[in-house]
Amino acid sequence: MLEMKDIAKSFPGVKAVDDVSFVLKSGEVHTLLGENGAGKTTLMNILFGIYRQDSGEILIDGKHVKISSPHNAIAHGIGMVQQHFTLVPSFTVAENTVLGLRELGVFPRTGRVERRIRELGDTYGLKVDPDARAWTLSVGEKQRVEILKILYTGAKILILDEPTAVLVPHETRALFDALRKMKEADTSVVFISHKLDEVMQISDRITVLRKGLAVDTVDKKATTKAALAKMMVGRDLLVDVPRTDVETGSKILEVKNLRVNDDRGLTAVNDISFTVRAGEVLGIAGVEGNGQRELAECIYGMRKPLNGKVFIDGQDITRTPVRKRVQLGLSFIPQDRKGMAISPNLSVEENLFAKNYATQSVPSHPLLSNRTGVSTASRKLVRDFSIVTPSEKTRAKYLSGGNIQKVVLARELSSSPKAVIAAQPTRGLDVGAMEFVYKTLLEQKKKGAAVLLLAGDLDELFRLADRVAVIYGGKLVGYASPDSSNREKIGLMMSGASGAGDEA
Ligand SMILES: Nc1ncnc2c1ncn2[C@@H]1O[C@H](COP(=O)(O)OP(=O)(O)O)[C@@H](O)[C@H]1O
Ligand SMILES: [Mg+2]
Repeated sequence: MLEMKDIAKSFPGVKAVDDVSFVLKSGEVHTLLGENGAGKTTLMNILFGIYRQDSGEILIDGKHVKISSPHNAIAHGIGMVQQHFTLVPSFTVAENTVLGLRELGVFPRTGRVERRIRELGDTYGLKVDPDARAWTLSVGEKQRVEILKILYTGAKILILDEPTAVLVPHETRALFDALRKMKEADTSVVFISHKLDEVMQISDRITVLRKGLAVDTVDKKATTKAALAKMMVGRDLLVDVPRTDVETGSKILEVKNLRVNDDRGLTAVNDISFTVRAGEVLGIAGVEGNGQRELAECIYGMRKPLNGKVFIDGQDITRTPVRKRVQLGLSFIPQDRKGMAISPNLSVEENLFAKNYATQSVPSHPLLSNRTGVSTASRKLVRDFSIVTPSEKTRAKYLSGGNIQKVVLARELSSSPKAVIAAQPTRGLDVGAMEFVYKTLLEQKKKGAAVLLLAGDLDELFRLADRVAVIYGGKLVGYASPDSSNREKIGLMMSGASGAGDEA
């Protein structure tokens, strides 16, 4: 049993962890649940010896321990897979596995290492080729190697920091199978997540953190998603925003045989066609980097197609400039908000109304000629979208990433657009803001907007989309209805398994 008692840790200006106590029993999966910035990573970085706590103590089997470094944590049987992997690309799996051990002065023979990796892989269902070079591995495989590295050290405590953020559904399922086997072997797992569906699937116990404080520790069997959401955010949340059925209208957004290159001149969008009707949300599921960015940018007019056409409300806008598309009622929430969607040196207020940021032209919003009107309206948006900023006059660049996202959302979704392209609209947002985005997108739909939602998170797509298409390698490889029973099928299509879905 491991015990963290009254742990506190401050960074300049923020108490990241505020007298948190946390008990990890052997053989349990214990989830740390909390919004972005709740202190989950910091708490575990203390346990793994990356940070020293300001106060509080750590006990293993009742004995006080001082964990001074990751090496020292490993010596205490504690291993952590961080959000950013640490494999050396040119090294093999086996070499990566023993890298840390070499630093400790242990030099196991290569043949032995490879055999052990195979054994561990078989035991836990974490198969990787020990001879493969790390750079040739998929993200899921890299994660497996990171876990095997830890198991190799004989660790009895495994910390996983948001491991599923980078996985497609069948990989998540395989990871969970492995975690269950580790439990059987009496290994304890700290699982960090903010995805309630997953948390309910894999946890034995759950500790909820909010703003550096431990809200409570509960048994999975004795709680619900709604109760967890409330603990996490501090108020009631609609965990399952009901997908409103709206009668769909005419074709609003149409894309025909679109072919688009990426920045390197390689085909990124390969002959894509689809239609989104008024009052409809078309979800495009995909692992990032399969053409979503280029598709969205091309529809908005920031990237020229090599071939194909884009229509809004029946009008061919393939050669229409962005400014004109905006006037025709097209809104865009790009995935790279900091880089593309705001003018960092303009104030929050100006960013809220300067819809033509993309063309660098003078803001044309009618309200802008009325200063008091602007102030009132921007204050309302700041409040409605819970944008945390010293004032509406603050330059946008001084806001945190999450708040910059909210500025973009507020601008793009408050103008009653005809069509909305939402690229990963909740990425990096906390659960409260996420719920707000869901509600706002569904309101747009109810008002008759056509919404194109590009997302990697299937729960998000299932909540919002009326139809789901899957993009892989720049092509739409299939359609499926947004239903949990299609999770596996969609996941397979997302990872390139052909023939999994309905005809595109
Ligand atoms: N190295 C650091 N320097 C300064 N502030 C940090 C650092 N690491 C985390 N923080 C701050 O501590 C708080 C908790 O962050 P973190 O532990 O990463 O939260 P979580 O993992 O729950 O998202 C946040 O306000 C974050 O900005
Ligand atoms: Mg974190």
